[in-house]
Amino acid sequence: MKILGIETSCDETAAAVVENGTRVLSNVIFSQIPLHQRTGGVVPEVAAREHVIKIVPVIEEALKLAGTSFENIDAIAVTQGPGLLSSLVIGVTAASTLATVLKKPLIPVNHIAGHIYANWLDEKADDPIRFPLVVLTVSGGHNELVLMKSHAKYELIGETLDDAAGEAFDKVARLLGLGYPGGPQVARAAEAGNAKRYKFPQAHLGKDSFDFSFSGLKTAVLNLVQEEFTASGALSEEFINDCAASFQEAVCGVLSDKLLRAAEIYKVSEVHLAGGVSANKRLRELTAEKIAGGFYFDHLGRKTKFPRRPKLRSAADFAYCTDNAAMIAAAAFFHHKQAKSRRINLTPSLADPGLRMYDNPR
Ligand code: KG4
Ligand code: ZN
Repeated sequence: MKILGIETSCDETAAAVVENGTRVLSNVIFSQIPLHQRTGGVVPEVAAREHVIKIVPVIEEALKLAGTSFENIDAIAVTQGPGLLSSLVIGVTAASTLATVLKKPLIPVNHIAGHIYANWLDEKADDPIRFPLVVLTVSGGHNELVLMKSHAKYELIGETLDDAAGEAFDKVARLLGLGYPGGPQVARAAEAGNAKRYKFPQAHLGKDSFDFSFSGLKTAVLNLVQEEFTASGALSEEFINDCAASFQEAVCGVLSDKLLRAAEIYKVSEVHLAGGVSANKRLRELTAEKIAGGFYFDHLGRKTKFPRRPKLRSAADFAYCTDNAAMIAAAAFFHHKQAKSRRINLTPSLADPGLRMYDNPR
C-alpha cells in the first residue's frame, strides 16, 4: 500500500511516499529555517504564507522522486494536529482536495503519532519492533512518555508540565547567543564543552512521577548567564560551550532516567526515542550507556539497578527525527491496518479524532 503523506504543522513543508509503512520511496522537506532565522523563531503568518507557495511543488517532487503518480497512490495522509493552525490548514486543504478529486481515502494523523512511527521507517531492520514498548517523544512542541501495547494504541504515562525539551534547547540557545533552531546549535557547542563544569537541576518531580519540567533548569541557565555578564561583560566561547554541555547533560539525564524507569515499571521489550530532540547524539548515547550498564538515576539522584535490557531504537535516518511527511505516511499505514483488523469502517475523514490520540486523556 502506497501512501502519500503531507505535513505542514509548523515550519516544514513536507511530502513523502511510503510503501507499507516502512519503505520510504521519497521524503521531500522544504525547511523554512533560513526564513525564521531572521526573527529567531517561527512567525505563524510568515510560515503559513510560505506553505502556500511550497505545498504544490513539494508534493509534485515527492511523487516524481518516488517514480509514481497520483493514480498509483492508495491513500493520502495528512497531519491534522497538533501544530500551528494557520500552517496545518494548508496541508489539510491540499490533502482533502486531492482525496476528493482523486477519490482516494484521506487519513488524518496526529503529529505525535507521526513522530512515534518514524522509528518504523526502516525496511532493512533485521529484527521487527516488539510490543510492549515505551516511547519518549521529545520535540519543540511536545514532550511525552507513551506506552504502546500494540499498533495505534497509546497510553500517556508522562508529559511536560511546562516547556518541552526542544523548547528549552531553543530558549537556552537564545540566551547563549546561538542561532535558531537551538537544539543542533547547543549540541554543536556542547561537543567542545565540559559537561561537568556546571551542575544544573534535574527535576524528577517525585518518586512516582513520569512528568517533566524544564522551567527550573531554564531559570538556572538564565541566572548563570546573567552572573557571567555582570562579572565579565560578555560570554566567552569557553563559557558558552561549557554551559551548553552542562545544560544538555541535565536535559538528557532526566529524559533517559525517566524513560528507563518507565521501561522497568511497565516491563517493556523496547524503548524508543522520537521527535526532533531524538536527533541529539548525547541523548542516544547516554540512554544506550545506561541500558548497557543496567542502571538509571532515581528521583533522589541515586544510582538504581536496572536488570532489564530493553532494545533501544531511534529513527534510522536523522531526517526522520525532525518534522517530515514520511513519518505521517507510516503512522497512517499502521492506523489504517489496525482499524481494518478491528472491522471499523474507515472511510477516513477529517472528523476522525486524530487529535485525541490517547486512550487515557488527562
Ligand atoms: O519534531 P520537531 O522538528 O518539531 C516539533 O514537532 O516541535 O522538533 C524540533 C525541535 C526543536 O526544538 C529543535 O531545537 C530540536 O527539536 N532539535 C534538537 C536537535 N535537533 C533538533 N534538540 C537537541 N539536539 C538536536 N540535535
Ligand atoms: Zn514535530
